[in-house]
Amino acid sequence: MKVLSDAALGAAHGKIILVGEHSVVYNEPAIAIPFTSATVEVIITKISGDSTVNSIYHTGKILDAPESLNNLIKTINAVCLYLNKPTNNMHIHIDSNIPAERGMGSSAAVATALVRAMFTYFEAELTDELLYRFVSISEKIAHGNPSGLDATVVSSKQAVYFTRSEATEFFDSHLPGYLVIADTGDEGETIGAVSDVGKLVKNKNTNGQKLITELGNLTKKARQLIEKKNLNQLGEILSKAQTRLNKLTVSNDKLDTLVDAAMKNGAIGAKLTGGGRGGCMIALADQAETAEKIAATLLKNGAIQTWIHNLGD
Ligand code: PMV
Repeated sequence: MKVLSDAALGAAHGKIILVGEHSVVYNEPAIAIPFTSATVEVIITKISGDSTVNSIYHTGKILDAPESLNNLIKTINAVCLYLNKPTNNMHIHIDSNIPAERGMGSSAAVATALVRAMFTYFEAELTDELLYRFVSISEKIAHGNPSGLDATVVSSKQAVYFTRSEATEFFDSHLPGYLVIADTGDEGETIGAVSDVGKLVKNKNTNGQKLITELGNLTKKARQLIEKKNLNQLGEILSKAQTRLNKLTVSNDKLDTLVDAAMKNGAIGAKLTGGGRGGCMIALADQAETAEKIAATLLKNGAIQTWIHNLGD
């Protein structure tokens, strides 16, 4: 491989859904915050010949890439078509520390960094609307019926209050507290979980729709509590959301164990985050020491990695 030019860089970060996952699919609001401890960079350099990629899923020609990279390949093709550029002559290096399939928005973040790098590489102007359009191509393949929440927050510096059919509101989510994030180490099952919630919502003999409405109401309340900087009541909302997500069958034993362990060790609220059935959970703490104690307990109870996010930063 002969490198012919300087590198073009695109970056993005992960996201944490505070509250509103799943119900957001049904036009209820969700609140998500940028998670800048988990980041991805895509670097594109010019080569001659077939384009190549270097990622955890595949290293080699894009033509030989596995199906798991289909979302990115479709995005690359769509950007090239839009900009009227050839799809060859690129080496695409993807460097991510966002755990994949864990509800942290990894797929949307990689696609965002990729589209940003491509527009820089082709020296074309990228508007927010265009970025969202191309990342959505990737997200539809990765997630089936994505609400668009991930695609919005992985490129935002502020928290988002997202409702599918309405303009996204960006707002200040600074709070005097800490969010502990724990990775179960298991891949989430967003597509399956979204589809099963869909069956519950459609089936009038279940209270699926009622649970979705309740999650929406909890999210609206959470927004007010964040604005009032009321950490304790926000914690209660998170725990109430977990109860509803559990009833919607998207939690699992490991997530429940971690949620319980966090609550017994000083958390003021805890829940899964993202699509569920694996992936990550979050716990709210008012003091740094409590957050550290919760993180240590979560590791003892099976989490493979934890992060402490200062909500005041
Ligand atoms: O698992 P994640 O973080 O990609 O998020 C899924 C969030 C859902 O509300 C379950 C689905 C969606 O498209 O918003």
